Amino acid sequence: GNDQKSNTEKMQAICELLKENVPYYNWVGFYFKNGDKDELKLGPYAGAPTDHTIIPFGKGICGQVAVSNKNFVVPDVQAQDNYIACSITVKAEIVVPLFLNGENIGQIDIDSDTPDPFSPEDERFLEYVNQEVAKIL
Ligand code: SME
Repeated sequence: GNDQKSNTEKMQAICELLKENVPYYNWVGFYFKNGDKDELKLGPYAGAPTDHTIIPFGKGICGQVAVSNKNFVVPDVQAQDNYIACSITVKAEIVVPLFLNGENIGQIDIDSDTPDPFSPEDERFLEYVNQEVAKIL
């Protein structure tokens, strides 16, 4: 649009802001549905690069949220059998779907190196972040 920053740059800035300001947010990224394919594609993120730039629906925590449309809070990633490891330092993960006009079009994904750090406050906060992001999409 006419904005000085593109939507991608805004989402990138959000990722960096969240990672830098919440000590237990060690990797922050957005995944979006990849066109009409049943897979997610990595969008803007802050943190270590990941090999998992494409995730099929149903695979891992992210892929499960793509089909469940529900928040997924994982206090201990090692206890999950359907989990895709990005880094050996990660202990916990939260994924919150991003809705545009009621449709699940993607998600915010946060990895933590701290065990069991996420509370319902994180869920409410990240739902709010996603609602704000949906407004610029
Ligand atoms: N752990 C995720 C994969 C994405 S990485 O965390 C960046 C999963 O199980 O879906």
